[in-house]
Amino acid sequence: MSAKKSLKILIVCLGNICRSPTAHGVLSKMIISKSLKGTIEVDSAGTGSWHVGENPDVRSIQAASSRGYDISKLTARQVKDTDFSEFDYLLAMDKSNLSELNKLCPERYKHKLELFLRFGSSGESSVPDPYYDENSGFEVVFDLIEDTCEKFLDYVIKKHKLN
Ligand code: 4NP
Repeated sequence: MSAKKSLKILIVCLGNICRSPTAHGVLSKMIISKSLKGTIEVDSAGTGSWHVGENPDVRSIQAASSRGYDISKLTARQVKDTDFSEFDYLLAMDKSNLSELNKLCPERYKHKLELFLRFGSSGESSVPDPYYDENSGFEVVFDLIEDTCEKFLDYVIKKHKLN
């Protein structure tokens, strides 16, 4: 008897040090709190390579910490070819990230690509890039991410009958 395959989610931004590791940390904690560890797996990556191997930006670590999430030990990596076959959902933080993914993604996997915020209630399409912003930008980003992670999780639980 083969083990049931887990549902795999990859969250993608530009640098993988601000937005996608934040969503990675938030979604991971929500998955644990819903007893879905092993049923849903989450990872994050950047379309760019500048920050590969680095931990998240300190401002993201602080924003996460103030809301009860520890993202300090995540390390940045770049999107790779095998991500498109391996993951079930590849969620882009903004339209530019989605456009980059579309360039890299083989045609047969394009149905896996989606804007992250499509699942949230904000009505926005892109999570703003906070890297060159003031600290308040990180709070806005966090609000959008928390809302969307909750709703995305509800969506996949229902769609894939995970509970
Ligand atoms: P992220 O933010 O895509 O949310 O990780 C950025 C981090 C670094 C850079 C741009 C955006 N950068 O240009 O180095």
